Amino acid sequence: MSTLSLIAVDLLVALVGVGTWLGAAIAAASGRTRATRFLAVSAVAVTLVRVAVVGVLAGRGWWFVQEKVVFALPLVVLVGAVAVVVLGTRGVAAAVVPLYGAGFAAAVGVLSPLLTGYPMGVGQALASLAVAAGATLLAWRFTAGPAAPTRRLLVPVIVLGLVGVGLELLPASSGAADGPIRTVVSELRGPATPAPGGSVRRFELAARKASITLASGTLVEAWTYNGSAPGPEITAVEGDLIEVTLTNVDIESGVTLHWHGYDVPNAEDGAPGVTQAAVLPGGRHVYRFLADQVGTYWYHTHQVSSEGVRRGLFGALVVRPRPTDAGADADADPGADADTVDLTLPVHTFDGIVTLGTHDGVQELTVAPGRPVRLRVINTDSTPHRVSLVGTEFRVVAVDGYDLHEPGLVRGEALRVPAGGRVDLSFPVPDGAVALLVDDDPARATLWINGDRASTVDTAASVDTTGWPELNLLAYGTPAPTPFGPDSAFDRDFTLVLDRGLALVDGVPMFAQTVNGAGYPNIPDQRVREGDLVRVTVVNRSIETHPWHLHGHRVLVLGTTGSPLWLDTFDVRPGEVWRVAFRADNPGIWMNHCHNLDHASQGMVLHLSYEGVGSPEGVGTPHHGH
Ligand code: C2O
Ligand code: CU
Repeated sequence: MSTLSLIAVDLLVALVGVGTWLGAAIAAASGRTRATRFLAVSAVAVTLVRVAVVGVLAGRGWWFVQEKVVFALPLVVLVGAVAVVVLGTRGVAAAVVPLYGAGFAAAVGVLSPLLTGYPMGVGQALASLAVAAGATLLAWRFTAGPAAPTRRLLVPVIVLGLVGVGLELLPASSGAADGPIRTVVSELRGPATPAPGGSVRRFELAARKASITLASGTLVEAWTYNGSAPGPEITAVEGDLIEVTLTNVDIESGVTLHWHGYDVPNAEDGAPGVTQAAVLPGGRHVYRFLADQVGTYWYHTHQVSSEGVRRGLFGALVVRPRPTDAGADADADPGADADTVDLTLPVHTFDGIVTLGTHDGVQELTVAPGRPVRLRVINTDSTPHRVSLVGTEFRVVAVDGYDLHEPGLVRGEALRVPAGGRVDLSFPVPDGAVALLVDDDPARATLWINGDRASTVDTAASVDTTGWPELNLLAYGTPAPTPFGPDSAFDRDFTLVLDRGLALVDGVPMFAQTVNGAGYPNIPDQRVREGDLVRVTVVNRSIETHPWHLHGHRVLVLGTTGSPLWLDTFDVRPGEVWRVAFRADNPGIWMNHCHNLDHASQGMVLHLSYEGVGSPEGVGTPHHGH
């Protein structure tokens, strides 16, 4: 059974437990002896089932059961045992209050963790205890009338609750003593010259509002770079220097450029409030970095990114290997192999319309059979997309810009692309038609090679990919040496438990997306020293998918059986535990966040910070910095 199903079963059993304990209490209060006995026995049975379910769930990781083991189960087992003993020895009338107690104990054991998420602390436990006790007193007063000694007991219960709440509100000490700052982020700039043989590629991007027209004619009021969304594709050849001048015409909340998946020097990273101040209307910022990673990447604003990226402030960044034959370096599409049909396909949802580039419907292409094709799919949305290729077998040659080792032929399997992720597919054009489908929907954004509108309709039945399994990238391709692996000695070991709960986000209390029970900026930094080998375990206790993304470093997924997987964004689905590792070789202060950008704005953001590196003055308030 999957961890998520176990979590669901546990929740169901727990709710049945609440129902049976409270049912027994109500039956006892109305003097129905047989019903009380029956319900109490059922409640005991259900509680024992829950203990067993939690036992199995514990095998999936302590993070999934912590609050159940330290709080919920002991409480309901203890109070339930008292109730059953009283019922057995002193009869139904005497058991009313203990049975209510067991019911309310079971109830807070379920509700309190749902409300505040992982981990359950002492303060939360005390406060929850007080709520259960208060509810029991109320029930007592209700059933026994003014004779009940509830007034006397009320004061200790209130004190218990206040102590609990107080402990919860106590500011967590940041722990790590900040050593001396030797470098400020703004000093960590990119180089001013390209690598030997490379050239300088200059781009100018002006952020402004514009209405864009999708291929079907639909108008979208977008936020754009240079009037188009996606923005201009930035291309270069390995070794070039990329220089981008960003200006802002009329995006009032400000903009930046973040090079997603590109491990640029920290000051070029475009994280407002951390590496620079957001560029406000009339402002300007120049980014410079070496094109030293080949592959498919993208750029996007990082200021109020949940809104900015959704509205269109993004574009592709593609770096190709330097051609061996120097003459082939055509400026229009640097490094492109003239024979290959090389297409960059950002998948984006504008106003609810899924697009491939700017195509919201069927896009047709005619290519001579036999010619090689490379499709670079980029998911610029906040939720995953499924991509399927019909009519040919293909290879997944790269993921997140990194070439896979000996990728095998794929046919009849779909690819899941996490928010922010990229896959590069490669195949020679066959004699028949080929279709690239997004989310199994041939009627929406679809790319046809050597097919036409008519064939789209005719073959709609044959392009039904809904039942295709998902290609398992963890076992795809063949192993190859990596600089470190699951058995390496790690200098740092971090765990991020993703959940939902009440937390402060930018000082505002909300039902937040939390990491280890806290929201931005109260999640402690991951502190590393340059050179450290770092392992990170990411656990998803929630019922939503969290595409985890670390800036400035590509992480190696530990425990793969196929090609090494170096990713910058990986989907941690509900109940999943991911172990990844990286070398801390890019000093700075880096964002580390969920790339469901709405989740990020609801608190799911922290920093990876290097010892000795400090934030510069005047980068602006971090308030809108994610
Ligand atoms: Cu693609 Cu912090 O982002
Ligand atoms: Cu998330």
